[in-house]
Amino acid sequence: MKIDVNTYMNQFLDSKLVEKYNSRKDEVFQKLDHADMNGWLNPDVSFVDQILEVRDEVLSHSKCLVVVGIGGSFLGAKSFYELFTPYFKKSSFPIIFAGTTLSSSYMKELLEYLETIDFTVNVISKSGTTRETALTYAAIKKVLEKKYDSDEVKKHIIVTTDPVKGTLREEVNREDYHSFVIPDNIGGRYSLLTAAHLFPLSFCLDIKELISGYQEGLMLRDDAFSYAVCRRSLFDLGKVVENFVTYENNWYYYLEWLKQLFGETEGKEGKGILPISMIHTRDLHSLGQFIQEGNKIIYETFFKIKNMPSCDIDGKELHEINLVVEDSVISAHVSGGVPCIVLELDEVSPRSMGRLSSFYFLVAACSGYLFDINPFDQPGVEVYKAEVKRRLG
Ligand code: PA5
Repeated sequence: MKIDVNTYMNQFLDSKLVEKYNSRKDEVFQKLDHADMNGWLNPDVSFVDQILEVRDEVLSHSKCLVVVGIGGSFLGAKSFYELFTPYFKKSSFPIIFAGTTLSSSYMKELLEYLETIDFTVNVISKSGTTRETALTYAAIKKVLEKKYDSDEVKKHIIVTTDPVKGTLREEVNREDYHSFVIPDNIGGRYSLLTAAHLFPLSFCLDIKELISGYQEGLMLRDDAFSYAVCRRSLFDLGKVVENFVTYENNWYYYLEWLKQLFGETEGKEGKGILPISMIHTRDLHSLGQFIQEGNKIIYETFFKIKNMPSCDIDGKELHEINLVVEDSVISAHVSGGVPCIVLELDEVSPRSMGRLSSFYFLVAACSGYLFDINPFDQPGVEVYKAEVKRRLG
């Protein structure tokens, strides 16, 4: 992985600002190493064999997995699932991600569909109290109860939640369901290497490769800190929006994952950089105009992939054309006053994406400390939850 925070950046950055934030490196790493919620820095993955056993059991009796969760209990698995399942070829074991909406038309269709197939539900909620998750899980459980006797229902429910507390843990203890744990010291958006994501992903990719890549990414502390310094300095220069840009359609949810990571980590106390995303070349024909000539509040991070499957069109490799377009866009945007960071991957694999993901955890956490906020809480999310509770009970 090549991380370039210089080539398309130096002309914009102020070296005094960079020095100021660089000088906080020891303090930031100390805070990170002593944080209560830093379990993602050294995650315990000893449960992987258990995941693979439960997966095989599910494959023996179900045709599909329904994952119910939202936010940090959803986006990691969803983004990797999208990256590593084919665009068009129907998967022999699809995963449905539910619990992210209260739309009645969606729910009605989902429940009617589930009545027609053999499925297993994996409900994922650290708190166990998230309304979208709880409502969806309750409705899906009813479908199972209509179909099967209680012994059989047991085989079709897997719960991923807090190790000791919460309504879901109580249900597991009472009903003896299969269950996995989201450790106390790992928050939702930092939970990629927990069963919340690894269990669903065990159905579509080699999770051991993902884990190896993740562990490699954790070694990139210095690079992550330089990226964080660059972001923090840009913010002081009025660049308050980071646009994550991909040239691959199946990265859509990965960029959603990044937006959640940075949005929930930094957006507090009136501070933070607003993360947005674009898929090129599609969005060059919409937001591209704004980026090139509009308000100069944006900088960009481009993801570049060296090797992609070969696709020859009239004697020309399509990916080479895509890369030329990407370089051209970077040059055009830089000339329009938009600083750019470029992250180059050799290829898209569970390992390379695991590496990129833990690297981004480090960038987000360091950025949070450089903004002098707690990178691991999300008090703002609780505000709407409390208001809904006041109205609905
Ligand atoms: O990152 C976070 O902590 C949040 O996005 C949570 O993951 C989200 O609110 C869902 O919470 P829970 O897993 O408790 O249902």
